[in-house]
Amino acid sequence: MKLAVISGSHRNGSESGKVARYVQQQLSSAPDVSSVYQLDLANNPLPLWDPEAWQPSEKWERLWSPISAELTASDAFVIVAPEWHGMVPAGLKNFFLFCTKGELAHKPALIVAVSAGPGGAYPIAELRMSSYKNSYLCYIPDHVIVRNVRELLNDPATSQSPDDGRIRERFQYALGLLLQYGKALQQVRASGAVNLARYPYGM
Ligand SMILES: Cc1cc2nc3c(=O)[nH]c(=O)nc-3n(C[C@H](O)[C@H](O)[C@H](O)COP(=O)(O)O)c2cc1C
Repeated sequence: MKLAVISGSHRNGSESGKVARYVQQQLSSAPDVSSVYQLDLANNPLPLWDPEAWQPSEKWERLWSPISAELTASDAFVIVAPEWHGMVPAGLKNFFLFCTKGELAHKPALIVAVSAGPGGAYPIAELRMSSYKNSYLCYIPDHVIVRNVRELLNDPATSQSPDDGRIRERFQYALGLLLQYGKALQQVRASGAVNLARYPYGM
C-alpha cells in the first residue's frame, strides 16, 4: 500500500513539517506499506488556483501533474493542518481545489491538527466540514491533535516526556487504524459502485 502525507503549513521550518516527517517515518516502517509520498506546502509550491487549471496548460501540467500522479497512486492520506487564526492555512484549502480528477476519491485520510498552544480543534472541524465534497476524501473518525507541538516529537526515535510518549502512542493507534481503512476502501474502489464520470462532484 502506498501512503501520502500532506503538510499544510506554508511556513518554512514549520512544526507541521516536523510532525509530517515523524508520521512519514512511522508509516515507512509499517508492514504492508511500500512507499510514503510527502508533499510539504512550505514556500507555496502550488500557486493559487486559476481557471487555466481546468484546461490543458503548460503551467499546471508542470506544477500539478507530478503531484496528481503521486496522489492517484496512493491508497490513504495523512493531512497535517496547523491552526492559523482558528483556521486551516489558505494553501491547504488551495490544494484541495486541484484535487478534481479522483486523486483522493473514496480513500481514507487521518487528520492531524497542530497547535503551538492548547488549540487544534478548529482545523479538524473545518476539514471535516468543507474539504471532502468534491474530492470524495473519506476522513476516518479518529484524528490526532498535537497540542504544545514545540515540546513534542523533537527526537523522532525517543520520547522526551510523558506527553511526548502519549502522543506517539496515539499516533501508533491512529495510523494503525488508517492502514486498515486503507485496505478496506480498496474494495470500495474496486467494486464498480463508484462512478466519478457521472458524478464528478458531490451534492
Ligand atoms: C498566521 C498564524 C496564525 C496562528 N493562529 C493560531 C491559532 O489561531 N491557534 C493556535 O493554536 N495557534 C496559532 N498559531 C500558532 C501555530 O499553532 C504554530 O505556528 C504551530 O507551530 C503550528 O504552525 P506551523 O506548522 O506553521 O508551525 C498561528 C500561527 C501563525 C503563523
